[in-house]
Amino acid sequence: MNVLLIGSGGREHALAWKLGASPMLTKLFAAPGNPGIADHGECVVLDIEDHEAVAAFCKLMAIGLVVIGPEAPLVAGLADVLRAHGIRVFGPSAAAARLEGSKGFTKDLCAKYDIPTAAYERFNNAPKAKAYVRAQGAPIVIKADGLAAGKGVTVAMTLDEAFAAIDDCFEGGFGEAGAEVVVEEFMQGEEASFFCLCDGKTALPFGTAQDHKRVGDGDTGPNTGGMGAYSPASVLTSELVDQVMKTIIEPTMKGMAEMGAPFSGVLYAGLMLTPDGPKLIEYNTRFGDPECQVLMMRLKEDLLILLNAAADGQLAHMSARWRDQVALTVVMAAQGYPATPEKGSVIRGLDRVGDDVEVFHAGTARKDGEIVANGGRVLNVTAMALTVSAAREKAYAAIERIDWPEGFCRRDIGWREVEREKR
Ligand code: AMP
Ligand code: GLY
Repeated sequence: MNVLLIGSGGREHALAWKLGASPMLTKLFAAPGNPGIADHGECVVLDIEDHEAVAAFCKLMAIGLVVIGPEAPLVAGLADVLRAHGIRVFGPSAAAARLEGSKGFTKDLCAKYDIPTAAYERFNNAPKAKAYVRAQGAPIVIKADGLAAGKGVTVAMTLDEAFAAIDDCFEGGFGEAGAEVVVEEFMQGEEASFFCLCDGKTALPFGTAQDHKRVGDGDTGPNTGGMGAYSPASVLTSELVDQVMKTIIEPTMKGMAEMGAPFSGVLYAGLMLTPDGPKLIEYNTRFGDPECQVLMMRLKEDLLILLNAAADGQLAHMSARWRDQVALTVVMAAQGYPATPEKGSVIRGLDRVGDDVEVFHAGTARKDGEIVANGGRVLNVTAMALTVSAAREKAYAAIERIDWPEGFCRRDIGWREVEREKR
């Protein structure tokens, strides 16, 4: 089968690496791809926003399955146009991707189906939002309704911070995404990510992970797309996973089907493990980046078989088995990330990283035969071992062998789990 993979990040490199191991794969195309993905398939130039052009390419190249990595093309309805052309897709429709594309939509679904989440109100103007915030008090959480590349959320510790975030949204700080604001109760607890593969009817549990969103050690500094992850997240015990399936995932699948927008693709639940049990922080409708990288390292199954089953509504017959080892990935970013990453520095030594380590490319480019930095998050150094402490040692040892003085990484990925392993 020929497969077209949409995207260019570390997530897509990990998917390409795993798809490349499938005996079912004839040829992989990636649009736009990156130099790491180019080891597993052909990178092609396609305007992803031109859905008809993507469909025409699929017909020309006899693409049997399109795998859509990032959220923007999903929310924009790429999957719908492809399906209308009879092209098979792994990924949700635009209507189902509202679970990620509109925080207000998801909160209303939670309210209707009694899904545990933070208390909330939706607002379309600043004075009313501020009056509500004043009545609730701080800490409180302000969110732009739409997609804001991970930057639309402010956890406000004071009323002034909350007011400033509200003004920012309504003054156009996030464009259309901020035309509506969701104000949420502040939840306390440890965060964990939970993934399911979905086919419209069935949700197949597909692993747990913990991300590290802040740029600096000790969870300090500005938010990023994610600076590192490990899997599994032992805080999400099998009992908690069962509880999450019953109270959060299954009612969501039911609700989406009932409103005529059955969910297929990856349902990624960001969870807060509160003293009152797991609560939904938000949904994403795609794999996490860098969480996907650690999941793919641990997955024992043929990914292409699973994604095909999801596209065909056949997940009820499938299972997912995982290696016993844990996987941990450290993101290497370019100096200046997340604000203004510097591009163009040369990266060497990527062939010296050692066994049980994969370096997934994110923002890299090939220039004059060398790999250069070409984005914020640049490399994902991913290792497997029996414990998080050992995987972390392996990943940082590999980083020492990579020759890239202009790059940086957090030095404490997995710290919560390392603390737990010491006990
Ligand atoms: P989101 O983009 O919705 O995942 O939010 C980004 C981060 O903000 C989350 O990973 C949490 O750390 C934090 N956050 C979001 N909503 C809440 C909430 N209601 N209470 C506490 N922290 C939150
Ligand atoms: N790593 C967080 C995300 O992919 O949204």
